[in-house]
Amino acid sequence: MIDYRDIIADLIFSENLGLSRDEVRDIIEIPTEERMGDFAFPCFKLAKELRKAPQMIAADIAAKISDCDAFEKVEQVNAYVNVFVNRSHIAENVIEEINDQGSTYGQTDIGAGRNIVVDFSSPNIAKPFHIGHIRSTVIGNSICKLYKALGYNVIGVNHLGDYGTQFGKMIVAYRKWGSEEDLVKEPIKTLLSYYTKFHEEAEKDPALDDEAREAFVRLEAGEEEEVKLWEKFREYSLEEFNKVYKMLGITFESYAGESFYSDKIPAVIEELKSKGLIKESQGAQIVDLEEYDLGAAMIMKSDGSSLYATRDIATAIYRKNTYDFVKNIYVVASQQNLHFKQWKMVLKLMGYEWEKDCIHVPFGLISLEDGEILSTRKGKVIFLEDVLNNAVKKTKDIMLEKNPNIPEIDNIAHDVGIGAVVFQELSNNRIKDYVFNWDKVLNFDGETGPYVQYTHARASSVLRNASPEELNETKTGICDYSYLTGETAFSLIKLLYRVPEVIIDASDKYEPSVLTRHLVDIAQSFNKFYHDEHILVDNRDEKIAKLSLVMATKTVIANCLAFLGINAPERM
Ligand code: ARG
Repeated sequence: MIDYRDIIADLIFSENLGLSRDEVRDIIEIPTEERMGDFAFPCFKLAKELRKAPQMIAADIAAKISDCDAFEKVEQVNAYVNVFVNRSHIAENVIEEINDQGSTYGQTDIGAGRNIVVDFSSPNIAKPFHIGHIRSTVIGNSICKLYKALGYNVIGVNHLGDYGTQFGKMIVAYRKWGSEEDLVKEPIKTLLSYYTKFHEEAEKDPALDDEAREAFVRLEAGEEEEVKLWEKFREYSLEEFNKVYKMLGITFESYAGESFYSDKIPAVIEELKSKGLIKESQGAQIVDLEEYDLGAAMIMKSDGSSLYATRDIATAIYRKNTYDFVKNIYVVASQQNLHFKQWKMVLKLMGYEWEKDCIHVPFGLISLEDGEILSTRKGKVIFLEDVLNNAVKKTKDIMLEKNPNIPEIDNIAHDVGIGAVVFQELSNNRIKDYVFNWDKVLNFDGETGPYVQYTHARASSVLRNASPEELNETKTGICDYSYLTGETAFSLIKLLYRVPEVIIDASDKYEPSVLTRHLVDIAQSFNKFYHDEHILVDNRDEKIAKLSLVMATKTVIANCLAFLGINAPERM
């Protein structure tokens, strides 16, 4: 793909002004207002270097580089060199590139040969997979796809919460009030009711808590009866989780959860001891992080059982040894900030320099409209599966109203309903708390998933109305691009051009919302083009040029939706 920054950087660098080519390239900006050009080069840094007024340098550079056929004009305004790209030139380069590359447009190989681990979703078994889990699940999935687009080898890990004292509680509750029959019918709802009941009863009878602790110790020791029950809980839970992953089209490279690390714990404790990091506190083993303002990291309880933090230390070491990652990413709620800070500090104190490559990617809380925060303990829960099913059903109702004869309505309602929920999750700046709202999610006009998908379907429909010969001609790329130099076409083409750098930006920031925002801009820009310009005009050359832009836009929207984990239906 032609890179205007490179062209400008090469030209300015060849003037030998005392900056390296990369320094020159880094200074180039995109002006906030279109009248200031498409790219701008501020001369302040050069002014320091050359001890000359920046305006004079800018005027000099403008005069010297204006003679390039990639540019319409080059102007000096104050200390800036403003570059206006040639509209036919950018149209030709961008559209041909996109229509050439098709479904791979936006991808690069800058990460080739390097591994990235992404720990995401990671629900706790025997507990509901609820609306609170959706953020880690879809943000993590999109981060995987963005890094794959950059050529990295990505290992998506579902670090299942399948270990810990809560299983002691489940075991006790199951023995006291459980029935196999209910469990088979509705595993998680049933397990959840035991869990809620356990907490109610334990408030009245604290001896239950002791019983639960004992059950867990027996489980950790591998006692057959406890292990069997635990396996049952895990299997049933996974079956339910998988229903949701299937709906979302999400897969994992590994399901190694917390229990996978239980036999690796003793070695970690030994290592912490030999490095002099462990100390005893009220019978428990801790790493004292007081001097870093991080309190104490609990490593082992007084009864000898391990903790979430201990397992995360073992996990990180295992992942480094197994995958030799360049990044080890954890997409986990900001409520766990302290846990991850402590964990990173412990790894650092253990002397692991790769601790700097371990990254916690936090996100804010999701709440319901009545303002209540979701809580498993109180049994106030909205199941993710129900939310997704509801979204599909509501979408189908809307479609039946608008367009009842549409073929394959169930498939489309699935793609749009799920896409709506996923897009909404990814539209919010991830760190912000937000309130889940049905009307916003399913809006076909606002800045939503259905709106972007609808734009894709609209572009597809335009292409369906072209003849096969016309479509063929569009693909050969022999077009008169001067028909695409109007304001709306030009804005759209610039947005399509920027997609590869937006993908890099989104992955650098672990922030899919950078891409959802850009995608909404593309959709709005395309719809403006669609309304302002007649596409299927009589003039054949003009029609072919415009169809080639429609085709490129359709490809880009589909590709970007795929990086977010969303399908792009041909019709809506
Ligand atoms: N199971 C945990 C929870 O639901 C999230 C685990 C995240 N991953 C990790 N390696 N700690 O809160």
